[in-house]
Amino acid sequence: MMFARIVGTGSYLPGNPVSNNDLAARGIDTNDEWIVTRTGIRTRHLAEAGVTSSELGLVAAQRALEMAGLQAADIDLIIVATSTPDFIFPSTACLIQGKLGNKGAAAFDVQAVCSGFAYALGIAEKFIRSGSHRRALVIGAEVFSRILDWSDRGTCVLFGDGAGAVVLEASEKPGILATAMHADGSQFGILNVPGQVSGGQVIGDPFLRMDGQAVFKFAVRVLAEIAEEVCSIAGVATSEVDWLIPHQANIRIIEATGKKLAIERERVIVSVDRHGNTSAASVPLALDEAVRDGRIQRGQKVLLEGIGGGFAWGAALLEF
Ligand code: ACO
Repeated sequence: MMFARIVGTGSYLPGNPVSNNDLAARGIDTNDEWIVTRTGIRTRHLAEAGVTSSELGLVAAQRALEMAGLQAADIDLIIVATSTPDFIFPSTACLIQGKLGNKGAAAFDVQAVCSGFAYALGIAEKFIRSGSHRRALVIGAEVFSRILDWSDRGTCVLFGDGAGAVVLEASEKPGILATAMHADGSQFGILNVPGQVSGGQVIGDPFLRMDGQAVFKFAVRVLAEIAEEVCSIAGVATSEVDWLIPHQANIRIIEATGKKLAIERERVIVSVDRHGNTSAASVPLALDEAVRDGRIQRGQKVLLEGIGGGFAWGAALLEF
């Protein structure tokens, strides 16, 4: 049987960490204690003006290729998960392809907000399993700082910028064991950026809006459900999962999900304290960190999951 296997990971965070106190010093009516208690976030990275998702994604992709020992020309599929693309078009995937110097690979973006990486991974896995493609770059890259209303303290303290990437390769050795993706568009109102560009103007509201408590309840329920779903498809008990990498939005959502699944805190990868919520980049950033520091080892079972605006959520269970 042919699997899609991760052969390289990479990530990139722009600039220096920005602390909660730094945000307060910039005039936001907030404090470290409120943010840490409610969210677990201590620092995040914010891209300089003009730095784009494709620039962050490019570095993450180069690092993943380097770990895999591959060249850009070896890749025949590039999928970028982002809600903060450089342009309306072309896709950020095509921009990264051009910067990498790859020619001819299929390249497109996936828009599933914070579940984007889980969606993109599931799509790439299906391309590889079908035999149509052999090596994929799957990238999550975001500059969420651009769509935050910096006068809304209830949302602007929660997010950060960054990118993460993996190289997937067709292999007879086990890799991705199961994936799942779901959405419920009736929940579009609890998290959105309800604006558009039309006739040369921004129409509507170009900033992120969120009903935090509704998001919290929805997220905890479906993150536990989809984790059980991918485990059941693969015939793996949640007790056999070595590492859970949930979307890094909020430590309380992460802890509540782990508790529902009976996965102890020591088996959960957490980076939200240092990255904030980087949307589609959050899971590949946390994955790369845990691979490079030696926590995640070859042969271990890793469960990744994302959730975000739409509402949309996705998961993948893999043998690393
Ligand atoms: N600093 C200080 N005080 C603040 C801040 C802040 N940054 N933000 C809000 N407050 C105040 C509010 O004004 C309010 O004050 P009031 O009682 O005087 O009116 C008080 O804190 C409580 O505000 P709530 O919005 O009710 O705070 P809540 O306890 O719900 O916490 C939070 C907000 C952290 C967003 C919570 O709802 C949550 O964790 N939701 C999950 C949402 C999430 O993680 N979203 C990420 C994106 S979605 C995703 O990725 C899945």
